[in-house]
Amino acid sequence: MNTNEIRWQSPSNIALIKYWGKRSFQLPMNPSLSISLKQSFTDTRLVYTRKERANTDLSFEFYFEDRRNLGFECKIRNWLIHVKPHLEFLDDYELKVYSSNNFPHSSGIASSASSFSALALCLCSMEKEVTNDINDFDSFEQKASYLARLGSGSASRSIYGKFAVWGKSDLIPGSSDEYAIPLTNPVHENFADLCDSILIVASSAKKISSTVGHHLMENNPFAEARYGVAKSNLNKMLDVLKSGDEKSFIRIVENEALSLHAMFLTSSPGYFLCLPGTLSIINKIRSYCETSGLFLCFTLDAGPNVHLLYPKRFQTAIHAFIKSELLQYCENERWIDDEIGGGPYFIGS
Ligand code: DP6
Repeated sequence: MNTNEIRWQSPSNIALIKYWGKRSFQLPMNPSLSISLKQSFTDTRLVYTRKERANTDLSFEFYFEDRRNLGFECKIRNWLIHVKPHLEFLDDYELKVYSSNNFPHSSGIASSASSFSALALCLCSMEKEVTNDINDFDSFEQKASYLARLGSGSASRSIYGKFAVWGKSDLIPGSSDEYAIPLTNPVHENFADLCDSILIVASSAKKISSTVGHHLMENNPFAEARYGVAKSNLNKMLDVLKSGDEKSFIRIVENEALSLHAMFLTSSPGYFLCLPGTLSIINKIRSYCETSGLFLCFTLDAGPNVHLLYPKRFQTAIHAFIKSELLQYCENERWIDDEIGGGPYFIGS
C-alpha cells in the first residue's frame, strides 16, 4: 500500500481589527488584522493512501484526540466539497486526519482558526508531494490561506506568524478578500513581543454560533457604520504600529472589541456574549491601566473571555495583577498565558 503522512502545527490567532459580517461565500465585509499566538495550536496529521481504483467519492475519516469524531468529520467533509475543485487529486486518495489541540478542550479559545489552517497546510503539502503544483496561486501560503478561509474566515490569518491581514485594504498592497497576507508594513518594537493572557470567564459553547452571528449582520441597521469603523480603525492602526503610539493602540483595540459586541446587542434578535465577570475584568483593567500607567489593553472574541494584551517587559507586573485581581472572575481561576508567535510549523512528512 502506498501510504504517506504529513503533519503540521498551526496556531490560533486573536484579531486586533475584527472580521464580523460576510458576503457571498466566506468573503469579509471589512479587512481584519490579527496576531498569531504561540502556545495555542492544533496539531494535525494527514495520512493518505492511493486508492486501488479511482472513483469520484471522497474517502475521508476524522479523528479528534485519537477518537473518530463524526461531528467534526461532517463539518470538514462539507468544507472539502468546496476545497475539491482546487485540489483535483483528492478523490484518488483515502484520507485520514488525526487532530488535537494543545489548549484545553472547551477553554473558550476558538479552535476553528487553528484547525482549518492546520488542515489546509496538510492538504497543500500533500498537493506538493503528489502533483508538485500549486496552480493559480502565487505561493504555497497563499493557497493554504485561501483554502483555510473557505472553512473559517479567521483561519486564513493563522497561516502566517506575527501580524496578518485578511481583506482588501487600499493601504496594504497585495491584500485580498480571498486570502490573508503577512503584514509587511513597519511594526514598532513596542508591539513586537505582545503577550496575550486569556482569562477564561466561561468555557461552555456559545449560545449563538459565529455562523449565525455573521448572518445576523445582514439585517443589523448599524452594520454599514461598523464596516466603516473597522476600515478606519485598520488605517489608524497601520500608523500606530509604525509610530509605536501605545495609547492609540489601546484605544483602537478596545474600540474594536466593544464595537464588535455592540453588533451582538443590536442584531435582531439581540444577544449578549459578555458575562458579569467579563465586565468586572474590563473595569479592573481600565483602572489598573490608569493607576499603574502601564501599557495594557483588552480585547474580546465572540464570547465572554477576555484577552489581555501587553508587551513582554510588563509581564511580571501584569501576572501579579491577574493573580490578585482578575482570577476571581475566571471559571475555576483558569487562564492561558500566550504571546505573539511565529506561525505554523511543519513537523514532517
Ligand atoms: C469575532 O472566523 O469564527 O473572532 O468564517 O464563520 O468561521 P466563520 O467565522 P469566524 O469569525 C471570527 C470572528 C471574530 C473576529 C475575528 O477573528 O476577526
